[in-house]
Amino acid sequence: MSDLDELAATSLAAVEESADEKSLEALRVRLLGRKGVLTGHLKNLGALPAEQRPAAGQQINLIKNRLQEAIELRRLALERESLDSRLQAEKIDVSLPGRRRASGGLHPVTITLDRITRIFRAAGYDVAEGPEIEDEYHNFEALNIPENHPARAMHDTFYVEPGTVLRTHTSPVQVHVMEKGEPPFRMICPGRVYRCDSDLTHTPMFHQVEGLLVDRNVSMADMKGTIVSFLRAFFEEAVDVRFRPSYFPFTEPSAEVDMTCVACGGKGCRICRHTGWLEVMGCGMVHPRVLEMSGVDTAAYNGFAFGLGVERLAMLRYQVGDLRMFFENDVRFLGQFN
Ligand code: FA5
Ligand code: MG
Repeated sequence: MSDLDELAATSLAAVEESADEKSLEALRVRLLGRKGVLTGHLKNLGALPAEQRPAAGQQINLIKNRLQEAIELRRLALERESLDSRLQAEKIDVSLPGRRRASGGLHPVTITLDRITRIFRAAGYDVAEGPEIEDEYHNFEALNIPENHPARAMHDTFYVEPGTVLRTHTSPVQVHVMEKGEPPFRMICPGRVYRCDSDLTHTPMFHQVEGLLVDRNVSMADMKGTIVSFLRAFFEEAVDVRFRPSYFPFTEPSAEVDMTCVACGGKGCRICRHTGWLEVMGCGMVHPRVLEMSGVDTAAYNGFAFGLGVERLAMLRYQVGDLRMFFENDVRFLGQFN
């Protein structure tokens, strides 16, 4: 009997000390399992004298019940402990601010092209497109720039093969439009153009938007009014613009349009080559020979055209000091336009 009391005491202590559910289960098997210590005692009851058996059997069963109860309680306690520590470890502070997802944005040149297109569409212009790989006829001859004309040298042309070039300007699209359709014309053509050229204000690939208006009795004043209105709409203010006499073989008279330099505000700096002005476009009254070559009746029609530099306008609008930054794809630069 005292053996049994001691067994009960040590077993209960072991239950209390078991550190996890696995060792508790092992202990339960060792004490109460089919080959366990208490089961062994029950089996040995037969060896006792008959009068001692009932008391001994009762005590063994009592111990068995107490142990079962203690094991169950310990199991619940251990389960609770492990749940608590898991909850602690996996705790989430739902009040913390979430991680922000970086969102992409349009390239500043794309934003500028969209903006220019929207303004001209609102004024009733169609949008035309032409090939970037162009034949010399459309890039030069049809624009009154015959072979050996000095103006060809001004264009720093990339040749794809003899007779085929990467277009040096969007002006050949004027020719395509006039060849295919009937006047009046009122169109713009946005697109990429290529020249072997690179410095603060020039890149080998850049974008132009060509404009062409052909109708009856078009005047130089119509052209100036259109361009100035466009620039005001684009910059949303009465910008400083000057028309400077110039020369293009495909327009007569011709002009170039300058705006006050972004970098120095007109005082003169490296970017504007100390003139205080940045050239943004070329323009002029379409040369009658160009109209004739494309099948337009010059007795009835005349018109104006312009070709503007998209990066130059973006540079002025966003105050960017080096045009090449538009093509370096530095996300720190590009992210500012989102
Ligand atoms: C022309 O390309 C003429 N086709 C424009 C034209 C069209 C005149 C219709 C008359 C009638 P120009 O080479 O000047 O002209 O270029 C036009 C504009 O493109 C320039 O004013 C400038 O803003 C821009 N530009 C020229 N070269 C570059 C370059 N390498 N990088 C970035 N922009 C340029
Ligand atoms: Mg020019």
